[in-house]
Amino acid sequence: MDTTQGQQAGRTGPAPIRRLDQEVVNRIAAGEVIQRPSSALKELIENSLDAGAAAINVVIKDGGLKMIQITDNGHGIRPADLPILCERHTTSKLKEFEDLQSISTLGFRGEALASITFVAHLSVVTMTAGQTHGYKATYKDGVLEGEPKACAAVKGTQITVENLFYNVTARRKAFKNVGEEYSRILDVISRFAVHNEGVSFSCKKHGENRADIHTLAASSRSENIRSVYGSSVARELIPIETSDDDPARSRFKMGGCISSANYSAKKTIMVLFINNRLVDCSPLKKACEAVYAAILPKASKPFLYMSITLPPEDVDVNVHPTKREVSFLNQEALIEAIQKAVEQKLLESNTSRTYYTQSLLPGVAAPAPKSPAGADEGPSQAVAATQKAHPRNMVRTDVLQPVGQLDAYVTKRLASARESPDDLAAIRRTVRQRRNPAIASEASELTSIQELLEEVNAGVHQGLSEIVRSNTFVGMADDTFALLQHKTKLFLANTVKLSKELMYQQVLRRFGQFNCIRLTPPAPLDQLLLIALDEEEALGRWQPNDGPKEEIAKVLSQLLVLKAEMLREYFRIEIDASGALHTLPLVLDQYSPDLDRLPQFALRLGNDVEWDTEKECFQTLAAAIAEFYAIHPPLVPRPDPFRTKSAGKSERGAADSLESPPLAEPGTAGNPEEGPEALDEMSGHERHQHAAGPCHCGDEREESGGGEKRRGNGASSRQAAGNGGEGIPGEGTSGGGVESGPGRGGGDAASVSEKEPLEDGNERGGEAGLALDAGRNGSERNGTEMCRAETEGDDEAAAEAVWAARDWNVQHLMFPAMRLFLKPQKFMATDGTMVQIASLENLYKIFERC
Ligand SMILES: Nc1ncnc2c1ncn2[C@@H]1O[C@H](COP(=O)(O)OP(=O)(O)OP(=O)(O)O)[C@@H](O)[C@H]1O
Ligand SMILES: [Mg+2]
Repeated sequence: MDTTQGQQAGRTGPAPIRRLDQEVVNRIAAGEVIQRPSSALKELIENSLDAGAAAINVVIKDGGLKMIQITDNGHGIRPADLPILCERHTTSKLKEFEDLQSISTLGFRGEALASITFVAHLSVVTMTAGQTHGYKATYKDGVLEGEPKACAAVKGTQITVENLFYNVTARRKAFKNVGEEYSRILDVISRFAVHNEGVSFSCKKHGENRADIHTLAASSRSENIRSVYGSSVARELIPIETSDDDPARSRFKMGGCISSANYSAKKTIMVLFINNRLVDCSPLKKACEAVYAAILPKASKPFLYMSITLPPEDVDVNVHPTKREVSFLNQEALIEAIQKAVEQKLLESNTSRTYYTQSLLPGVAAPAPKSPAGADEGPSQAVAATQKAHPRNMVRTDVLQPVGQLDAYVTKRLASARESPDDLAAIRRTVRQRRNPAIASEASELTSIQELLEEVNAGVHQGLSEIVRSNTFVGMADDTFALLQHKTKLFLANTVKLSKELMYQQVLRRFGQFNCIRLTPPAPLDQLLLIALDEEEALGRWQPNDGPKEEIAKVLSQLLVLKAEMLREYFRIEIDASGALHTLPLVLDQYSPDLDRLPQFALRLGNDVEWDTEKECFQTLAAAIAEFYAIHPPLVPRPDPFRTKSAGKSERGAADSLESPPLAEPGTAGNPEEGPEALDEMSGHERHQHAAGPCHCGDEREESGGGEKRRGNGASSRQAAGNGGEGIPGEGTSGGGVESGPGRGGGDAASVSEKEPLEDGNERGGEAGLALDAGRNGSERNGTEMCRAETEGDDEAAAEAVWAARDWNVQHLMFPAMRLFLKPQKFMATDGTMVQIASLENLYKIFERC
């Protein structure tokens, strides 16, 4: 009652109570059961399932408002029942109220068809087994109109609902968007299709030949999921089941599948069936979302399919007119148990997660697409839209093709998924070491590796170590530089150089004990090399007189095949006799390198590694891997409408930013001279990388001079460093002033326990702590849909996602890992890797006073 009516009633006294017309009652009741086209369809599907149908076909006109037609091959309706078929409270499913306690059919009230007839025109064609013909009957307001007419039919039932809400103008007007109603219809059918293995479903718009959903009776559940929700969901599913049988706590069984940490969408899709009823349970959904929230990037959501079976006596199915809600005993305990199971599953899968990118290197057969045509539309489209491509995961097969246009997929498997006898040996070695950590692995016993590690230790810069260990990440200042605060000072940190050094040191520490990232299908080296050489040519770094590219590619790939045993044993780079690259080392847990850079990595392996002496070989290999795994700015330009100059390629972006360091304003730095100077020095270095050829990795050797091959900023820079290499540009003498304050970092490091870096990656406390978050490495989320998204002109959004993933990696993966594992080198203090740009000491004191 609104206020006016209330006031009126107050003035004139109570209005008389009248009995409503039955027609009004029925229409009100019908409005509760049939709220929109999709709820009418849900009722009709449930009837078909109750009738034992194995095929259910739906045709929709105008979002179901004009027509919903459902045809099934169930047991049909007896002709004698047709006169009362649509009367309210007529049902073949329930006799006594007590039956409700053990009801196994989806319907029980005898209300659905009746409700539909009060708000729409309904006709039925039906035939039972053994009849020679069927009958057609039409209904209005619950009543059969005329006599059922004999007609040709097949066993089963076809129900046609037309002009829904024709007599409820307000409701009809509320459905302006027929497209949205159709989506809701597809959503309902999708859910039933996933749950009901053994029943085929199809749905199409009236007048169209192609079905938007089509599943087969013989298909498995995961095939159904693939067919309706798309392969990006289906391939990331982990089976899950749990149960409880303690009457004091909860009694249930739950089976289903949930998406792994590799999958994320904008909206949670939760397909939930309780005792085969399609229901919603928001507390359960929220509980599951909470588990994923710790793993997935912000605002990314999972896919969940769960079928819960409860003792019928524990469930009340009759709590909502649409039957979309049920109440059950011990809901909290059940939700808690399921939440735990989800958590457990995700943690398990986190150590054996699979990363896919789409790839189709020339000559490699594409995996046959499994989803039917219909999968391109409807719900799978919704998934596609949320599953943005990360072009950096796409392996380019043609230098001219934009990043991310190709079909490729990469599988990352950890130690648990190792299969070959060599893997067994590796596992045995790891176990042996774990039992007796004092025994170093054969590989790390190699003196050359020890020497390289000692060099790293000897080269540590104490001042930088302190900064790296306890800084606060402020943000990215540009494509390459991060802004860090340490105590009262601000620093610009070159993320590429820092991450390169981090990876280099990690390679040395994990030497001979890598887990791996598996490429599926394997990438033929000669083709990777050709791509890299094409890139070189495009950059003017390959000239015809260097020799035919095909020839160079062949020779280099043959060379790598010859070195395959060593590469596999020590670096987990597996190359088969045909020259196909199978695996890459897992250098930092949960991080996979930018696969767009794979061709250049192959070229660097083939061209720049010094194979002759052991130490140089390991050093140059580690450097090549570090270069590849460093967190570079993505190759796609960062979309930025306000930017006048496109960042372009990574090195370019770095160079741009170096020409005008955004934060290095004269006068703000502790030593205004040194900051920009160091930056200029580095910009020269970066530009040099462009100029070097034919393979730009060669530049590092040049810069580092004879002895220091791995780092371009090696020996010469080290020697150049003042104070025995301990100076930090711009730091001056003001270090050590204020001990506490906003710059006091180290929180992350403290929260992640450090473990012996030589341990197996998966056991590493420190990195395991980072592992969950690492799922946010957006690069791992992609699929065919992504290519679709790309081709649909969504490049900008895709590029944004790639950049967001890169920035995320820098902040949440690289910096925390650096705090734990990086031993910053002296040369980094002078080559622009870390530059102090401001001392906030005075400013800080002002704040402190405030
Ligand atoms: N597709 C069908 N095939 C065979 N019988 C059907 C079909 N649809 C309806 N019926 C018969 O019509 C009856 C009435 O259906 P209706 O949906 O109105 O009620 P219900 O399914 O019994 O209960 P509820 O209102 O809870 O759905 C059913 O009990 C069933 O016997
Ligand atoms: Mg029913």
